[in-house]
Amino acid sequence: MTSPYRVVAFSGSLRQGSTNTALVRLAQRIAPPELQIEWIDWVDQLPWMNPDLEEDPPAVVQRWWQTLREADGLLVGMPEYNWSPTPLAKNALDWATRPPDDRAIAGTVVAFISSGGRGGGAKAQENLTPILGFMGATMVVEPPVQLALVRDRIDADGNADEEITEAVRAKLDAMLEALRQRDAASA
Ligand SMILES: Cc1cc2nc3c(=O)[nH]c(=O)nc-3n(C[C@H](O)[C@H](O)[C@H](O)COP(=O)(O)O)c2cc1C
Repeated sequence: MTSPYRVVAFSGSLRQGSTNTALVRLAQRIAPPELQIEWIDWVDQLPWMNPDLEEDPPAVVQRWWQTLREADGLLVGMPEYNWSPTPLAKNALDWATRPPDDRAIAGTVVAFISSGGRGGGAKAQENLTPILGFMGATMVVEPPVQLALVRDRIDADGNADEEITEAVRAKLDAMLEALRQRDAASA
């Protein structure tokens, strides 16, 4: 290994004590040395998607595009509201699919880790996975991390029970494998 892969990460929940934020914190802590996970805490500053803004993209949009282009991977703590991604996550990912002639998300290895209610976030993941793949991202679908009703099994710092910890670890391993395969294919 010459240098670790750069993975940027954000949480789709603004809630204090968010379990999805906690999952990303857990991922940061247990990531293998080959994955360097960098927390992005400013996606809530992206403006609501408005194609009018694309003519002269605001600095924060350009920063988001640049961040994605410089990263190898993107890890999202993906909550589910009403069978859908949260507006925060959807907005950040909508911007990530722009501009149409040079999509920031293209070529990025993307993984979702979710904590939800009974649904565990499965529908939020299913909503975006095919379209982001179509937009040029490599989606790490297996093994799914779709945790239902786990608020008492993980704390705000990402200290979790063994089952949750191992589920996140397996997802990171799959992400690393996808990055290696991407590099092998382009060698
Ligand atoms: C408006 C709203 C809608 C929700 N809809 C769903 C849903 O469709 N499926 C689900 O599994 N959980 C649903 N939940 C529960 C959240 O996923 C759950 O509260 C989760 O812990 C939120 O993530 P967080 O802990 O990171 O804030 C909903 C919660 C809210 C506030």
